[in-house]
Amino acid sequence: MRKNIVAGNWKMNMNQEQTVQLIEDLKKALPSNDASIMIAPTFVNLAKAVELTKGTSIEVVAQNMHFEASGAFTGEISADMLKNIGIKTVILGHSERRAYFGETDDLLAKKVTAAIENQMQVVFCFGEELEDRKSDQHFDVVGAQLKNALFELPASAWSQLILAYEPVWAIGTGETASAEQAQEMHAFIRKTIADQYDSTIADHVSVLYGGSVKPTNASEIFSKPDVDGGLIGGASLKAEDFSGIAVAFS
Ligand code: PGA
Repeated sequence: MRKNIVAGNWKMNMNQEQTVQLIEDLKKALPSNDASIMIAPTFVNLAKAVELTKGTSIEVVAQNMHFEASGAFTGEISADMLKNIGIKTVILGHSERRAYFGETDDLLAKKVTAAIENQMQVVFCFGEELEDRKSDQHFDVVGAQLKNALFELPASAWSQLILAYEPVWAIGTGETASAEQAQEMHAFIRKTIADQYDSTIADHVSVLYGGSVKPTNASEIFSKPDVDGGLIGGASLKAEDFSGIAVAFS
């Protein structure tokens, strides 16, 4: 069901001590409003984070996952391992995974399927590069990313999906898509899903925006009708900034 979500992607930041501190700070600073809060610490700190957030409204989620159930896949983590420590949601398809670790649409389709079959929720990330936007290909690129990774899924899988549109040119660059650019793309995303499945599925999926969201621009972006919140990188590493973003839903 569509809901307002503010998700913090901590990436490869925060050792265990820092993780503990940031969670304690967040517990004090986060507003209580209708936004669902997610944080994604690194794998080694997930169990600790789950323990520290028990009984709070903060959900701890993973940044990645392998599609196989178990076996000789050195360095990888399975859905079962995540679920076993209380993780119910995984981020897949982040542009850094695509760019630096060679994750393709085909691989992501396998990962998404594995997560869905394991009854996990997926925050699926996608978005165009700067050249795509400059050459006016951004809608085609985003449409293809959705189709290649998600459109083989049965309609029933969509209740486990959250989408995160993250234009690569806006990630960690300080350059944000304008609220109008975000709304335009989010409306296109819903239309593409409605054409492939139906309008109920398109209306019910939460679509987050990601890319240099800050306390100063969050309310404007989140106020757009097809934007249901944000996936936050840099600004999720400071309790004050992350809370300042979550306040946008108050
Ligand atoms: P940023 O990262 O907020 O630092 O731009 C967003 C993301 O990578 O999800």
